[in-house]
Amino acid sequence: MNKQSQWKSSTGFILASAGSAIGLGAMWKFPYMAGIYGGGAFLLMFLVFTIFVGLPLLIMEFTVGKMGRTYTTKIYEKLTKKRWLNVIGWNGNLAVFILFGFYSVIGGWIVIYIINVAFQILTFSNDQLGSIAFETIIGNPWLTITGQGIFILLTMIIVMMGVEKGLEKASKFMMPLLFIFLIVIVIKSFSLEGSMEGLKFILEPRLEDISMEGVLFALGQSFFTLSLGTTGMITYASYASKEMTIKTSAVSIVAMNILVSVLAGMAIFPAIAAFGYSPTEGPGLLFKVLPKVFDQMAFGQGFYLIFLILFLFAALTSSISLLELNVSNFTKNDNSKRKPVAFYASLLVFMISIPATLSFSSLSGIQFGAGSIFDNMDFLVINILMPLGALGTTLVVGQVLNKDDLKAHFGKDKFKLFMPWYYLVKFILPVIIVLIFIAQFI
Ligand code: TRP
Repeated sequence: MNKQSQWKSSTGFILASAGSAIGLGAMWKFPYMAGIYGGGAFLLMFLVFTIFVGLPLLIMEFTVGKMGRTYTTKIYEKLTKKRWLNVIGWNGNLAVFILFGFYSVIGGWIVIYIINVAFQILTFSNDQLGSIAFETIIGNPWLTITGQGIFILLTMIIVMMGVEKGLEKASKFMMPLLFIFLIVIVIKSFSLEGSMEGLKFILEPRLEDISMEGVLFALGQSFFTLSLGTTGMITYASYASKEMTIKTSAVSIVAMNILVSVLAGMAIFPAIAAFGYSPTEGPGLLFKVLPKVFDQMAFGQGFYLIFLILFLFAALTSSISLLELNVSNFTKNDNSKRKPVAFYASLLVFMISIPATLSFSSLSGIQFGAGSIFDNMDFLVINILMPLGALGTTLVVGQVLNKDDLKAHFGKDKFKLFMPWYYLVKFILPVIIVLIFIAQFI
């Protein structure tokens, strides 16, 4: 069987790429980055970048995937006849390995929390959810390695089953349910005493809080949540059927991502203020604060468990796309190799992820460059490999590909958006990416 995998329907494509986008980025990373880089100021920069840089880049990746219809370590050659340009695909593939390596650490934390809370429920424990000791958990090497092993294993099993089966049906109710849960948490969070300070912190853009570093991380955040720069979205678009609607899909994915990020912020910051945490807590923020919010609810344990399962699902639909990119590149569209490739890629990711996990325990003493091993992996992917990948694709699309070909794949253009989009990708976005990229080294 030598046939390109395909989505069953265009909704399948939207659900899968939305699933890839919405994940830990919006719910876990956004709040803690916003906490460090000025709250409302960070939100504002994030919105600007997501709409004016992220959205056009997402449309660009979808267009490239639709035009090339093959795996991303080949697609650049296929489209431009220049073999060396495949380096952009390899850059993305490398990025995705490292990304999955540290992503699975957080996925593993969710798994451990699920087990913890389920255990509380099954033993009719009266313990507060807030008593789950975050530091003790992440400081335990074996526990965290097991947790992330389970996360990677779950991803692997789903990917082995193939894109056409599986998740499309599940995401149709899991995602809306996640929205509803977020809204409930936001409402609960608002009702806490002293919460309004937190709401002000995340919604009020105090321009004096904008720093060069914040600008850099806000751009990185918009790339990360939209899964840009790693060719992951190109892969998904290459699986899509001819009638896929690029612009509607991209706009709805961007809108959902913004919505989830903002909801996550509005769920967390009021609670931070109410419980007296510091917004600069870092990666543990969500895991420390949310249990306390659920402690304030009737049936808090049960609701927290459901929330964690939805959260895990959102993280899995992202990690699936990370693994799917490898499957696509290493099977070279030969679906009969899907299982062994998924297995070996997962094994490699597991090995890469171990030092990332241990950054929070036995290897926490190793500090260099951006911080711990985990921090450096995060920095390498988000601040270096992703911008480079995005830059590479903008250059190919703007400087090498034929404008009329692009226009033909852009789809129906009721609002005459092709030309503005094209000039943005050709002239403006590469400059913005280069400037911000260089700024971090100054
Ligand atoms: N967007 C995902 C999230 O927010 C993470 C992610 C970043 C990703 N880059 C990717 C997923 C590339 C798949 C492919 O959680």
